[in-house]
Amino acid sequence: MKEQIGVMLSSSEVENRISEMAAAIDKAYEGKTIHLIGILKGSVFFMCEIAKRMKSPVTMDFMSVSSYGDGTKSSGIVKLNKDLDESIEGKDVIIVEDILDSGRTLSYLVKLLGERKPASLEVVTLLDKPDRRVIPVELYMTGFEIPDRFVVGYGLDCAQKYRNLPYIGVIEQ
Ligand code: IMP
Ligand code: MG
Repeated sequence: MKEQIGVMLSSSEVENRISEMAAAIDKAYEGKTIHLIGILKGSVFFMCEIAKRMKSPVTMDFMSVSSYGDGTKSSGIVKLNKDLDESIEGKDVIIVEDILDSGRTLSYLVKLLGERKPASLEVVTLLDKPDRRVIPVELYMTGFEIPDRFVVGYGLDCAQKYRNLPYIGVIEQ
């Protein structure tokens, strides 16, 4: 059966919110260079959109972790697939994530990166499903809190599909 995708958040809703987030971060980090760390692959679209809107000097790095298999269920295990290219020591780091679900991925990353002596370390996520939290994560900023639905688009996938949708969608069977 062909999957139908419903719109949860339109492109303009997402992009307006990202503009607000970028402006708020600029204000809070005035005079500082912000080192953005994007978590591959889901955060790539959000990372580009927020970085383009920021007026502060920005540097970027990426890392890749996996906590999910091919489907929609968490394996519960976080694996580091690709580490950062550069040291974060003394840098003002913001982790840029697509979605916070159980909290396993981000709690692992915050602990790992926190040990590398950044000047500061914060987490910004486009989406948050607070009802799904297993491990608490302190967030600096959230784009949208959403209900417990599996979402796709804007970088988010279902078995690697739908990342390129320009909105946040839900799969309706
Ligand atoms: P956590 O470790 O359970 O918090 O999961 C975070 C990761 O799971 C995210 O970075 C996503 O890659 C993936 N994920 C969680 N919920 C969804 C969803 O609704 N759609 C697509 N990917 C999701
Ligand atoms: Mg992710």
